[in-house]
Amino acid sequence: MSAITTPGPLRHFLQLRDFSESEILYVLERGRIIKDRFKRYLPHRTLHDRNLAMVFEKASTRTRVSFEAGMYQLGGSVIHLTTEGSQLGRAEPIEDTARVISRMVDLVMIRTYEQTRIERFAAHSRVPVINGLTNEFHPCQILADILTFVEHRGPIRGRTVAWIGDANNMAYTWLQAAELLGFTLHVSAPEGYRLDPRRVGSQPAAVLREFDDPLEACRGAHLVTTDVWTSMGYESENEARRLAFADWCVDEPMMAVADPEAVFMHCLPAHRGEEVAGEVIDGPQSVVWDEAENRLHVQKALMEFLLLGRRED
Ligand code: CP
Ligand code: NVA
Repeated sequence: MSAITTPGPLRHFLQLRDFSESEILYVLERGRIIKDRFKRYLPHRTLHDRNLAMVFEKASTRTRVSFEAGMYQLGGSVIHLTTEGSQLGRAEPIEDTARVISRMVDLVMIRTYEQTRIERFAAHSRVPVINGLTNEFHPCQILADILTFVEHRGPIRGRTVAWIGDANNMAYTWLQAAELLGFTLHVSAPEGYRLDPRRVGSQPAAVLREFDDPLEACRGAHLVTTDVWTSMGYESENEARRLAFADWCVDEPMMAVADPEAVFMHCLPAHRGEEVAGEVIDGPQSVVWDEAENRLHVQKALMEFLLLGRRED
């Protein structure tokens, strides 16, 4: 039977910096071990009988499939909720939803709008809560991205990551990763869509460099990455963004000035011909399919860590 409560202090993963560098490195290494076992068809059922509730207030393909498949592969089970299909869509307070769901399951993953919404949920939850994307952060994606970089190119410490495009949930999570793991982040976004200095603060000055010209941001980078021009929830800005972002398409000239060994990543879904040229995302430097797959492996490690702590087996 599942315990419904977690041994040890209750931990959430609402943003990347909820974990220390050592905890992130542990989850990445554990994800690598879990992936290796998965590839060799070795059972790894450390969450036998545990139950994950997934709450989606926005659309998803990768997050849904990776959490759902991952939990079943770990020996557990999953409940899938959406806003429209639950009482959240009929204005039940998020706090009440948290109180109820967290008495019935072992773990919750939420994809929602404001970070404050997931924080309110977590504050009233008896079980760990995982951020499956908010307007502000996408920490599970960055875990997968860093695992992918490490697999292809080794440790990320001391390297340079170029973020081209909207200063969105992915960009701010990359910034937290740069601070925690010790690499440099180049960011280039059009005026009006740049990092907000109030959110950046003064600390990251050492790891962050901002560029007007996206090509200059790519120069010498070991990883070039981008995302859609319009994130979920901002669709009313579509036309204005199309105009503003026209020069922020990761293309072959940008990849040509990056490090010769540079890889290209995109969290997906992608729009070829908008934020990335087809030749880049479908080209030899692209690792986007490994990146997407690694959501599965690293999130299995994350769920295991939140429920069981560090494992030696
Ligand atoms: N990258 C990502 O989170 O994809 P989905 O929106 O399909 O879950
Ligand atoms: N920044 C995008 C990521 C989608 C996975 C969004 O929030 O829609």
